[in-house]
Amino acid sequence: MVQRQLPKPKELFELMRFKKPELDAKKRRLAAALTIEDLRRIAKRRTPKAAFDYTDGAAEGELSIARARRAFRDIEFHPSILRDVSRVDTSTEIFGGPSALPFGIAPTGFTRLMQTEGEIAGAGAARAAGIPFSLSTLGTSSIEQVRAANPAGRNWFQLYVMRDREISYGLVERAAKAGFDTLFFTVDTPVAGARLRDTRNGFSIPPQLTLRTVLDAIPRPWWWFDFLTTPPLEFASLTSTGGTVGEMLDAAMDPTISFDDLRIIRELFPGRIVIKGVQNVEDSRRLVDLGVDGLVLSNHGGRQLDRAPVPFHLLPEVVREVGADTEIAIDTGIMNGADVVASLAMGADFTLIGRAYLYGLMAGGRAGVDRAIAILADQIERTMKLVQVSSVEELEPRHVTQLVRMVPRRAEDADLAGAARRIERQRDA
Ligand SMILES: Cc1cc2nc3c(=O)[nH]c(=O)nc-3n(C[C@H](O)[C@H](O)[C@H](O)COP(=O)(O)O)c2cc1C
Repeated sequence: MVQRQLPKPKELFELMRFKKPELDAKKRRLAAALTIEDLRRIAKRRTPKAAFDYTDGAAEGELSIARARRAFRDIEFHPSILRDVSRVDTSTEIFGGPSALPFGIAPTGFTRLMQTEGEIAGAGAARAAGIPFSLSTLGTSSIEQVRAANPAGRNWFQLYVMRDREISYGLVERAAKAGFDTLFFTVDTPVAGARLRDTRNGFSIPPQLTLRTVLDAIPRPWWWFDFLTTPPLEFASLTSTGGTVGEMLDAAMDPTISFDDLRIIRELFPGRIVIKGVQNVEDSRRLVDLGVDGLVLSNHGGRQLDRAPVPFHLLPEVVREVGADTEIAIDTGIMNGADVVASLAMGADFTLIGRAYLYGLMAGGRAGVDRAIAILADQIERTMKLVQVSSVEELEPRHVTQLVRMVPRRAEDADLAGAARRIERQRDA
């Protein structure tokens, strides 16, 4: 029998803990976001469909990004026990300088399209968190504006080598002059990937007012208010004629770029040269032999070649081949601090976040980016404590297993040798 009694008013009173309501709607919204997926949901609600889809979407069937995210979800951690993890140090050194957290902000184009504060919000948040910020060639804030937003912190410049080489080289020199310490040379973009959502949405830069976009704007008045009352959305470093993103990329990108371009860039930029978009072991070796300062294993967030290798799966092989000779960063699919921890354990020196930052930006401008960084930092720290390591250097491959759902068919079964012989015969004929 349960004994019952009448509740005493004093005890009842003690149970009542009414929190002071948060009157600032943005603060309330962001505080309720506990994961990057939560920020993504808020972002979707607040951003016009075409801009959200441009950010969220990837190429063709969007398989590259789905597989990369799944690879991270399929991590199994192997914690140690009974270690003192009352304090953990999440800081690291990368490309010749410090970072308070083992990730930085990846370069993204058209960032003010997502939310009007754009790159300046990213650079300011990076400054506050003590992590590097990367500005894209297709950025909508200038090299100098980013420098002003993050004057004492680390800024990196991402380079697309364009048909008009002089424009690209001019940007490299400007970035060097503004004290950017690292240059990312992106090499996975000979032509634009097929971003089908953009085509279906009739997405163009600048956004066009059609009946559909006007209807879509009704529940998202703040985005449009920002868009119409702040300086026009344009490339800060380039002049362009407008059109769909694919058309603009194709007009700017040069499918003839080669290893020779690397030599010229090397001469122009005094800082670190890092190649972004490396996707196999042979190229990694060749780049290291050519003297680059680092690699970013990336498939561009799945926005270029669909069904590309999953960078997280490629990582152990590349680390084995060149890990002792160069620094290796990785991106594509990072949505959780645990993904960062797993990458470090598998031998990466650093990670980059693209969409995770942009979802924060769309959810709440600068405060949203701060929130995205805080969520990831918190997840990294907690995961490290639970794995029971107290510094980034202590993370090792033994802490992680990559559970692999898809494995390549064995070459013997596929009779690849037979196929190769046939091709040789045809060549000889
Ligand atoms: C909206 C958007 C724009 C991007 N623009 C560029 C760019 O201009 N240059 C570049 O090298 N990479 C660009 N990227 C790729 C990112 O630098 C990074 O490789 C990718 O976002 C990582 O994947 P994640 O979004 O899953 O973190 C872009 C990515 C997104 C989502």
